[in-house]
Amino acid sequence: MIIEHVDEPLPGSSLRPTPPGRVYTDPSIFGAEQAEIFEKMWNCALRADDLHSAGHWKTVTIGREEVIVTRTRKAGIKAYFNVCAHRGMRVCTTGEGKSRTLQCGYHAWTYALEGDLVAAPNLTSMPDVDRSRYGLQLVHVREWLGYVWICVAEEPPSFDDTVLGEVRTRFGQVESIDNYGIESLRRGETKTYDVAANWKLIIENFMECYHCATIHPELTEVIPEFADGLASQRKNGEVHGSNFGEDIGGFTVDGSASGFEELPSLVPGQDRKYYAITVKPHVFINTVPDHVIIHRMVPVSESRTVVVCDWLFLPEVVERADAGQLDLTTSVELFHRVNEQDFNACELTQPSMSSQAYAAGGALVPSEHHIEEFHTWWYESLGMERASSPAGAAQSEPAAAAGS
Ligand SMILES: [Fe+2]
Repeated sequence: MIIEHVDEPLPGSSLRPTPPGRVYTDPSIFGAEQAEIFEKMWNCALRADDLHSAGHWKTVTIGREEVIVTRTRKAGIKAYFNVCAHRGMRVCTTGEGKSRTLQCGYHAWTYALEGDLVAAPNLTSMPDVDRSRYGLQLVHVREWLGYVWICVAEEPPSFDDTVLGEVRTRFGQVESIDNYGIESLRRGETKTYDVAANWKLIIENFMECYHCATIHPELTEVIPEFADGLASQRKNGEVHGSNFGEDIGGFTVDGSASGFEELPSLVPGQDRKYYAITVKPHVFINTVPDHVIIHRMVPVSESRTVVVCDWLFLPEVVERADAGQLDLTTSVELFHRVNEQDFNACELTQPSMSSQAYAAGGALVPSEHHIEEFHTWWYESLGMERASSPAGAAQSEPAAAAGS
């Protein structure tokens, strides 16, 4: 497989090149991404309180793997490949359930919630079988921000260097995000978007605000500097949040409503501001003074991505909303509209990625140049270099491109 990438300024301009269109359409590249990115890195799988009590389990997709995540009686949250050790059938065949054990529906091999093989037909007549060798295979689990993070690699990368490292790069220090107390917030709303676009288009969209003036009228009303195309990113090495407009009451759909009480541990400088972080490969964290919005993307194919978006509020705010004493709609509606506007743009971009008119790629304006860091990371993750050639094109081979 050859990827050509122009790695020089485009002629006569301050534009920088994007990858070529096929990076967003080629199934073999998508397979390589699953193997080299999603199956090697930490993925944000689900909210920990989705597993209400011991015995509650859910299945999640990580790369090409299906994983069972369960709250055990003795050992907290554990996760396993959803593969029976006997003949390989899926042990859990629905999205969630609650049970004392996990039993395969094929030959009834039965596992404890902690993953050990505890029973199988005629197992007692096979005393030489070491049950400890035939449990469900564990995958790595971390809890952070109230979410269960999973890595299906045998040797996971350092959570501190990768996930927390992204936060440090954005906020300057991990403690700044701690002020939002995200782990103790409760979900007031979740929306799932089935987006007909490659996952990278969604990340690239999230990383820039050049499009904000065109497609986000509600967002630019609340945060006027977004209309200038400046994304919420670190500026000159300083931590930068995006300021609400002077006459804006809060992060609500038209800015006139003030939202809810500020999260209690915020420090001066975190009020009346919006911060955004991209945690590669697939999480967006957005913070505003009274709530937090977290997106996680599940790539389904080279041209389809499911995005799950949670709106997290103080528990008492959610309780009052549940009791009908207040309404979360004006807060939720703002980012819901942003999501729909963004995903619509991505869906209208995806078909062009296979056009001959985009075979050599497109361009990044200066306020989008930082997206090149994402592209560099992507090339490196797939074992490719972005070396330029005299002809302005680079050729390299992905280290492990599936199907190539
Ligand atoms: Fe946007």
